Amino acid sequence: MAAGGASALLPLEVASLGFTAGGETLIDRVSFVIAEPGISVIMGPNGAGKSLLLRLLHGLLEPGAGTVAWGGRPLDAAARRRQAMVFQKPVLMRRSVAGNIDFVLPRRRDDRRARCDAILREAGLYRQRRQPARLLSGGEQQRLALARALATGPEVLLLDEPCASLDSGTTLAIENRLQAARASGLKIVLVTHDLGQARRLADEILFMHRGRIVEQQPAAAFFAAPRSAEARAYVAGKIVL
Ligand SMILES: Nc1ncnc2c1ncn2[C@@H]1O[C@H](COP(=O)(O)OP(=O)(O)OP(=O)(O)O)[C@@H](O)[C@H]1O
Ligand SMILES: [Mg+2]
Repeated sequence: MAAGGASALLPLEVASLGFTAGGETLIDRVSFVIAEPGISVIMGPNGAGKSLLLRLLHGLLEPGAGTVAWGGRPLDAAARRRQAMVFQKPVLMRRSVAGNIDFVLPRRRDDRRARCDAILREAGLYRQRRQPARLLSGGEQQRLALARALATGPEVLLLDEPCASLDSGTTLAIENRLQAARASGLKIVLVTHDLGQARRLADEILFMHRGRIVEQQPAAAFFAAPRSAEARAYVAGKIVL
């Protein structure tokens, strides 16, 4: 982790954020503050706007209205470089598995090879290190994308459904890796529609519905008694549209 740690980028302050496309309001006057370390989970049904919101938080999309500030300063390229994002569909380079990791390690380090091998072993991808990354299975690609994101030494990690369509073993491996990263002080903002994953990982929940954050609570309080009707229905396993 870079000097200063995650606290230097916190709080994340989002004010009256809006995003419109094709005449539709997709992110609707969203305001919230994430001030605490740990894992903040943005949860909600398909199409709620979770992926769009995460892109806005990382500065990959320009908001139509409102502001995103990290550590008391408007989001800029310098703040973005201190963050890493893992996408819903893993984005890998047209290189070998090892090449994807080596690319993000600092050029100057003379222990780069050893670092790269250690990262690949930890991700369970050492055997496949010479293969083109695009030949990995979906779950392996996601593990590589996460390992690469962590190898950049971010202070904040933004994850969009990192375990969608992965089996329970791969999901467990990724969740364990995230727990370890959290324990070492990394701030994590994780988007998921998976209730089980939210229960296992979240320190706090932001529940999203139709482009709005309808509630934000510590995870234990949220699961004991969601405040909004939409979240109550979702937690009860009812279909929420
Ligand atoms: N660039 C865009 N232009 C127009 N509409 C878009 C654009 N990007 C997303 N949308 C729409 O915005 C809505 C929210 O999309 P988003 O991908 O953020 O949902 P989500 O909550 O991440 O859903 P899922 O759980 O399925 O991943 C969807 O109805 C989607 O079709
Ligand atoms: Mg999404």
